[in-house]
Amino acid sequence: MENSRKKLYSAVQPTNNLTIGNYIGAISQWVKLQDEYDCVFAIANMHAITVRQEPANLRKRTLELLALYIACGIDPKKCILYLQSHVPCHAELAWVLNTFTYVGEMERMTQFKDKSAKHADNINMGLMDYPVLMAADILLYQSDVVPVGLDQRQHLEITRDIATRFNNIYSPTFTVPEGLFLKVGAKIGDLSDPSKKMSKSAENVNGSVFMTDDRDTIIRKFKRAVTDSGNEVKYDPQNKPGVSNLISIYMAFTGKTVEEAEADFAGCGYGDFKLAVGETVADKLAPVQAESERLLADKGYLEGVLKEGAERAFGIARKTLSKVYRKIGFYQL
Ligand code: TRP
Repeated sequence: MENSRKKLYSAVQPTNNLTIGNYIGAISQWVKLQDEYDCVFAIANMHAITVRQEPANLRKRTLELLALYIACGIDPKKCILYLQSHVPCHAELAWVLNTFTYVGEMERMTQFKDKSAKHADNINMGLMDYPVLMAADILLYQSDVVPVGLDQRQHLEITRDIATRFNNIYSPTFTVPEGLFLKVGAKIGDLSDPSKKMSKSAENVNGSVFMTDDRDTIIRKFKRAVTDSGNEVKYDPQNKPGVSNLISIYMAFTGKTVEEAEADFAGCGYGDFKLAVGETVADKLAPVQAESERLLADKGYLEGVLKEGAERAFGIARKTLSKVYRKIGFYQL
């Protein structure tokens, strides 16, 4: 009864608030992809603890992220939406895959090096093992495609390497996944420094617009956004990175093309342009925020979604894990 649709997997960590960069680059894309693929979306709380988390906060953010996913249009009827720690197979497969991954490979990962520098007082084993857990996530669901940002490209490469290595030793076991590196809005820049990616954890909070920011905050942040010399609203990432970043955000929130966006602001000064982009974003986020609040007030519903998601995810994951255990020689009852 397998159907012919390709399988897609992705996840987001429940750390910090999501920014409009995460929304444009990930969640809004997933909403479109769920009609084309069999989708599994996770809340990666096991990845989150590789950096110290405040427990109450982690718990709270988990439900907030779930509510936001659904409010943005991810439909738990169309896809599997679950919390990583609810499916023990992730930890189990990660352990097995650890024995097919070399320490040297992990030490060379760019993100590990960056995070080690940032959290020098807590370079724990989990931080180094992060890519193996991510490989386990993806491979458990026999995923064909994995939409991620460019910062995750190396993690996807190592996932493919581990899968291929295992398949070559034991005969085909895992689907070797392809990365889907989204172009549209894949790199929304920080409003105060467009050369940097808009981040959930940026030091300067004015550069990141969060999904939960209220209207006044959103507009204030856009008003403060850096622009460039000249006075024309033109899309030219090389020479006008600030203005181009704002145009990209505008395009993502309106679905307009570069030409249409430029036409909307022909003869418009930078001040009015920034205000208009801020208003567009605030208008678009208002209903999402309202829906997310409504869902958060209905904990029973959210827990029901998690319960059903975990059961469905477990069904798939357990099958892959049994196959792996059989191939490697674990005695099974
Ligand atoms: N590491 C990803 C990120 O921070 C989150 C993640 C965890 C993920 N497991 C995954 C993404 C599996 C894709 C597939 O963005």
